[in-house]
Amino acid sequence: MKVIACYSMKGGVGKTATAVNIAYWAAKSGIKTLLIDLDAQGASSFYFRVKAKNKSWDKRFFDAYKHLLDQVRASDYENLDVIPAHLSFRNFDTLLSTLSKRKTRLKKILRGLSNEYKLIILDCPPTISALSESVFTASNTIFVPVIPTTLSERTYDQLNNFFDQHDYSKKKLVPFFSMVQGQKNLHHRTMDTMRSRYKSFMKAFIPFSIDVENMGEYRAPVDVYARSRPANRAYVDLWKEMVPLIRKR
Ligand SMILES: Nc1ncnc2c1ncn2[C@@H]1O[C@H](COP(=O)(O)OP(=O)(O)OP(=O)(O)O)[C@@H](O)[C@H]1O
Ligand SMILES: [Mg+2]
Repeated sequence: MKVIACYSMKGGVGKTATAVNIAYWAAKSGIKTLLIDLDAQGASSFYFRVKAKNKSWDKRFFDAYKHLLDQVRASDYENLDVIPAHLSFRNFDTLLSTLSKRKTRLKKILRGLSNEYKLIILDCPPTISALSESVFTASNTIFVPVIPTTLSERTYDQLNNFFDQHDYSKKKLVPFFSMVQGQKNLHHRTMDTMRSRYKSFMKAFIPFSIDVENMGEYRAPVDVYARSRPANRAYVDLWKEMVPLIRKR
């Protein structure tokens, strides 16, 4: 079983859009997949039309995998289940800081799901926190969407520094460009600079597209309602490039 995260401490960069579309393509290619929506905003749960069962279950989340299994919901797609977010997830950080072995707890619990799933995808909230650190420990690969602008470059530098300072393996970090606008010189320049500074950037990138924005309206992955559009092809390319990266880690 592999665990991957869609993570950035920057908000609104395309983490959820990526998690949803990649989960869809993984499942479609026959991989038993579980998407865990770790963000109290619940956007990926919304896209997959699933809701959490309990009123609040924050403590039990980190207790045992059996509690997690209780929360699994089937999606409308074969091979794809979802653990929806709950507003109580906003307390994860304070909760984690009170627990022992806080960095490894999530990793251990997710391991318990390995009989059921071959791939776990974590859709993460835009923070750098105790929860993020459990995600860094639990994930084999961390996919980081980066909008090619100056501030995003700075944020990605900060993430790399954080990994250095806290002894996380930077090999886990795999960035890719998101919401790319081909007509903007700044985007071209930033992409060139960042690709030369960070060799791990993926070739595939996601263009800025109304077809991705429309996920909110259709509440479905892009393939369902915009099959032949460039944004959908971009997610296919992204997924294809991810497969060997996920396998080797
Ligand atoms: N490639 C894209 N082109 C155009 N709009 C996009 C694209 N990707 C995402 N969006 C839109 O941008 C907004 C933010 O996207 P998304 O929710 O995927 O980002 P996020 O990083 O998960 O945000 P948050 O940090 O709030 O969790 C959404 O309204 C989404 O529809
Ligand atoms: Mg999100």
